[in-house]
Amino acid sequence: MAELFTSLSLRDCEIPNRVAVSPMCQYSCDRDGLATEWHRVHLGSRAVGGAGIVMTEATAVSPRGRITPYDLGIWSDDHAAALEPIAEFVREQGTVPGIQLAHAGHKASKTRPWEGNVPIDADEENGWEVLSPSPEAYPPFDGDRPTMRKATPDDIQGVIDAYRAAAERALAAGFEIAEVHAAHGYLLHEFLSPVTNRREDDYGGSFENRSRLVREVTAAVRDVWPDDQPVFVRLSGTDWLDDRESWTIEESARLAADLSDLGGDLIDVSSGGLHPAQELSAGPNFQVPLAEELRERTDVAVGAVGGITEPEQADAIVRNDRADLVLVGREFLRDPYFGLRSSDALDGTREWPIQYRHAVR
Ligand SMILES: Cc1cc2nc3c(=O)[nH]c(=O)nc-3n(C[C@H](O)[C@H](O)[C@H](O)COP(=O)(O)O)c2cc1C
Repeated sequence: MAELFTSLSLRDCEIPNRVAVSPMCQYSCDRDGLATEWHRVHLGSRAVGGAGIVMTEATAVSPRGRITPYDLGIWSDDHAAALEPIAEFVREQGTVPGIQLAHAGHKASKTRPWEGNVPIDADEENGWEVLSPSPEAYPPFDGDRPTMRKATPDDIQGVIDAYRAAAERALAAGFEIAEVHAAHGYLLHEFLSPVTNRREDDYGGSFENRSRLVREVTAAVRDVWPDDQPVFVRLSGTDWLDDRESWTIEESARLAADLSDLGGDLIDVSSGGLHPAQELSAGPNFQVPLAEELRERTDVAVGAVGGITEPEQADAIVRNDRADLVLVGREFLRDPYFGLRSSDALDGTREWPIQYRHAVR
């Protein structure tokens, strides 16, 4: 039997196989953060397609935490109600529904990628003032700055409270895994990295201070998430900015251990996204060594993501103990049935939906 199709137990959650749909923004809400038919079909197809986990895209814990006006959100009970049938459908396929809880920080208030990722000013229609640990350190990837606000202590407490409330709603909506998004240059990563965090209060300076918000958010989510269900945290393992003081794999390992102590069950190891000067060389398995390193240095389970496109490649990552789980992004966009295709190629243990069996040899 292929290792990829062995189950993974985290707390009492039994994940049927180790290939997960990586969170991927769809920018497909009608400007109010409510899930649409697009989300139902997009996420539902990938559950039909045999993934062990279907993780939602970055789901904003507050309106200010959206990247664009069209992002998915979970800041009201109506948002949870719109997500509930999707989580239920995913579960009915034998797939575990997960939700990525996110705040975009100073990378917010932009047009969609296909509209150019252009910052929208706070006084323009659909724009808002974005939150940053240190506005002076904002490193724009694409030109202009949005209207910025340095996070006050009240703003910081508001973010923690918003994550807690979002997790409560996600639970009510039927999700079984909550993932805290602390990667890719969004708010929590902005606090972690000394490149974007120049604060001089309890949330800036030392590792302890820069990582305080991520720890507090994770603790708040864990506080309301049931003891028998897992919490994941997505980290950027490194900023890929070796030419300056920045977030490194050493600090990631230290944080992973802290998050594990706080009840985090799996670190989903991505990288970069913080600064345009990053020296990132993408390709097959390009972030797997980061996951492997965290797995070696800590006791926490890890997920590997990035450049994983082939069943045998995914299986080898798990078989060789490089990660406990693989997350697949773009290949799942190209082929929603990547899970079934992998199972067929490796050992055939994930059965096709009964409705489709006439098509299976
Ligand atoms: C269209 C698209 C949207 C994405 N949105 C998110 C997101 O919402 N949250 C996140 O953590 N990563 C996001 N990512 C990154 C993916 O989850 C994944 O880490 C990345 O694409 C690398 O994996 P891959 O090589 O399998 O695509 C996105 C990637 C793509 C292609």
